[in-house]
Amino acid sequence: MNLFSQLAAEPTHEEIFPGAVLMRGLALAQEAEFFAAVEHILAVAPLHHAMTPSGLLMSVMVSDCGTPEAFRRRWDPQNPSVRRMWPPMPRVLVDFALRCAVRSGFPQFCPDTCHINRYQAATKLGIHQDRHEFDLHQPIVSISLGLECIFLLGGFQRTDKTKRILLEHGDVIVWGGPSRMRFHGVQPMKPGHHPLTGPYRYNLTFRKVA
Ligand code: SIN
Ligand code: FE2
Repeated sequence: MNLFSQLAAEPTHEEIFPGAVLMRGLALAQEAEFFAAVEHILAVAPLHHAMTPSGLLMSVMVSDCGTPEAFRRRWDPQNPSVRRMWPPMPRVLVDFALRCAVRSGFPQFCPDTCHINRYQAATKLGIHQDRHEFDLHQPIVSISLGLECIFLLGGFQRTDKTKRILLEHGDVIVWGGPSRMRFHGVQPMKPGHHPLTGPYRYNLTFRKVA
């Protein structure tokens, strides 16, 4: 490895807004271990289509894991047909999420859930705020694996201008503190193939919901 490719492989630390930190490549060193942990979660708690609050099926596929307290808070009693399995969060992933939070200025982070989104070509995620967590002093830690996407990070109003951020395999973005309630979303995905994840992008978000 020459100096330049070594530098290119170093994780970065970019403050996009106060409290919103992008660390490119931070997950790369443990990519195989992390993806194996994701596959393990999905074997127990299979992916299903997310639903909008108004009951429409979304194109993104989702799963979750975490603590029983978080499950009780998140589980949707209006939709009892989905009898969900809720495995615990794999230790390797939690340890990494804590490291990410510390590096971005949130040493008090104590996540109780990991939400998984799986995107493929044309999948998008509309602009929204993460407002269903109990303690909004806790940040969101987001880890991207597989295909790249354009992540939109906006302001505190749905219609505010957004920054377009390329999120690639191994990138981590954390938003909390003064950025906790920023609107965000994902542009429609381009098709592609990734050596580890095939035609998909997986995004893991660690949060404290209970
Ligand atoms: C989310 O907002 O829940 C996930 C964002 C992402 O997939 O990067
Ligand atoms: Fe979100």
